Amino acid sequence: MDHFLYRNGELYAEDVPLSCIAQQVGTPVYVYSAATLTRHFGLFRQALDWTDHLVCFAVKSNSNLAVLKLMGDLGAGMDVVSGGEYARAKAAGVPGERIVFSGVGKTIPEMRMAIEGGIRQFNIESEPEMRALSALCVSMGATVPVAIRVNPDVDAKTHEKIATGKSDNKFGIPISRAMAVYAEAASLPGLRVVGVDVHIGSQLTDLAPFRAAYLKVAELTRALRAEGHDITRLDLGGGLGIPYRRDNSAPPLPIEYGQVIRETVGDLGCQIEIEPGRNIVGNAGVLLSRVIYVKNGEDRDFLIVDAAMNDLLRPAMYGAHHDIVPLVEPAVGAPVRPYDVVGPVCESGDTFQKGADLPELAAGGLVAFRSAGAYGAVMASEYNSRPLVPEVLVQGDHFAVIRARPTFEEMLARDSIPAWL
Ligand code: LLP
Repeated sequence: MDHFLYRNGELYAEDVPLSCIAQQVGTPVYVYSAATLTRHFGLFRQALDWTDHLVCFAVKSNSNLAVLKLMGDLGAGMDVVSGGEYARAKAAGVPGERIVFSGVGKTIPEMRMAIEGGIRQFNIESEPEMRALSALCVSMGATVPVAIRVNPDVDAKTHEKIATGKSDNKFGIPISRAMAVYAEAASLPGLRVVGVDVHIGSQLTDLAPFRAAYLKVAELTRALRAEGHDITRLDLGGGLGIPYRRDNSAPPLPIEYGQVIRETVGDLGCQIEIEPGRNIVGNAGVLLSRVIYVKNGEDRDFLIVDAAMNDLLRPAMYGAHHDIVPLVEPAVGAPVRPYDVVGPVCESGDTFQKGADLPELAAGGLVAFRSAGAYGAVMASEYNSRPLVPEVLVQGDHFAVIRARPTFEEMLARDSIPAWL
C-alpha cells in the first residue's frame, strides 16, 4: 500500500495534490511520500521482530540525503557501495556502526574513508580485496569486522541484468571455495571475521530462490563454526520485488520473506542484516511529467512528455514497465486511447510505454509514472543537456524540494575551457 491515491478527482501524495507540486516546482520531478517510506521500513522490521536484526537500506536505490535522514532516524542501517554513498550516509547522520560496505571494486581510498569514519562491516567480495583491506588495516593500526559475500549459484529468476547470485556473475566468492577463503581471512591481520553475506539479485518475485540461497548459507555457517570461525552475523542482502503493475499478482510480502529467513537460518542464533532498497522506496515515489505534444503518427498516437530516458532510465535499460496514470482521475467508464508515451531525447529507446491505455490527453496535461522511487533519480543523467531531475519529499500536508533542478548556468559552470583553447 502506498499514499498516492485519487481524492476529489485528482491524484494526491498523502495530503498534497500532485498538480500543486507540478505547478510550483515544474516538471519533470520526482515526488516521494514519507508516510509510505516509513510504512515500508516498518514492514521489514516487523518481519524480523523475532530476532536481533538490522535493516540496512540499500542506498543505491535512492540516495537523496533527506530520504537517508528519514530512514536513519527510523533506526535503519545503510548498505553502501561507494565512497560517495558512504559520505551520503554519514552526512544524513547515520553512525558508522550502522553502515555496511558492499561492492566488488572498493578502492583503497574508499576503504580508508570507511575505516576512519567508522564501519559496521565490510562485505568482502574477492581474495585480492580481502588482502588489500588487511594490508590497509595493518598500515592504519585498525581491525575491522568483515563478512565474506558468497555466490551460492542460485538462479534468482529475475532480469539478467539484475541477477547476481549465479556462478557466471561477478559477485561474491564461489561458495565451493568459501571454506578456504574464510581460513585465509582468519589468518590475516586487521580482519575480524564475523559473518556471511549473500545477495542474489533484485526484483525477485518468488521466495524459492531466497530459500535455496539461505539454506546454503545456513549449511556454510555450520561448517564454518565447526572449523572454529565465530560467525555471529548473517547479511542476507536485498532483492524482494515490488508490484510494478496494479493489475497483476503481487510479489510476496516482507512478512512472508521474514518467515523464509526464520525457517532457513533462524536456528543459528545469528544477528540478521538485510539490505532492501526497492521494496522500501520503489512504490514510495512517482515521477511527474507534463505532456508537451500529442502527435499523430502513421498508425499510432505519440504522447510526447517532458520526462525522458535520462530522468527514468529503467524502461530503456531493462524494458521495465512503470504504470502511467493521469493526475486528473478519469471518470468511471471514460473511454481510453492507446498512446505510445515517449520522451524528447533523440533516441528511439526513449520510449516509456507502447500502447498505454490512457484517457484523452492534451498538451499541458499531467501524468505520473508510478513505482519510480527506486533506481529512478539515482540513475538519472543530464544526457541531451537536460538539467538533472529534481526531487520533492511530501509529509502529510506539506512538501519540500529535497534536490533542486539546476539552472543552465549551474550546469554550464561545471565545465571549464582550458586557457590554451
Ligand atoms: N544489496 C546489494 C549488495 C545489492 O547489490 C542490491 C542491489 C541491493 C542490496 C538492493 O536490492 P533491492 O532490494 O533494491 O532489490 N538498477 C536496477 C536494480 C539494480 C540492483 C542492484 N543491486 C533496476 O532499476 O532495476
